[in-house]
Amino acid sequence: MKILVVHGPNLNMLGRREPGIYGTVTLDGINEALSRLALELGCELAFFQSNSEGALIDAIQGAADSCDGILINPAAYTHTSVAIRDALAAAALPAVEVHLSNIHRREPFRHVSLSAPVAVGQIAGFGLESYLLGLRALFSHIEKEIVTKA
Ligand code: DQA
Repeated sequence: MKILVVHGPNLNMLGRREPGIYGTVTLDGINEALSRLALELGCELAFFQSNSEGALIDAIQGAADSCDGILINPAAYTHTSVAIRDALAAAALPAVEVHLSNIHRREPFRHVSLSAPVAVGQIAGFGLESYLLGLRALFSHIEKEIVTKA
């Protein structure tokens, strides 16, 4: 099983970006923790981060033929990008949306996610743990799908 992990804009700044909200974990730290969990679960991960909407869409499209699922933090594009939502819908892969912060207890413009309705589910508010919970949830969702199809 192969899962694409997609990180949206400004997540490359984690560690020094608004630590009061996002903590001090870096993007490398998140990817390392995910890699350790993937080893434990027995799945393969590919990582992609971009600050550009088009590059994120290209990566999602590329996953359609090469991956079994997508773990995504669309970051600010969560709240604005119809194009990323459409790319997720077109890829037709199970996706789990994750956020470090609890977007629902922040500014009203963050309460809406355009991508969550095309995802299996959303996990928000647990910092690094959101990603780990998201990977576990996506992994068992895909495993169940495989069993159902067999
Ligand atoms: C975020 C929440 C978004 O609202 C914000 O724009 C981000 C990070 C999070 O992980 O908490 O960049 O996706």
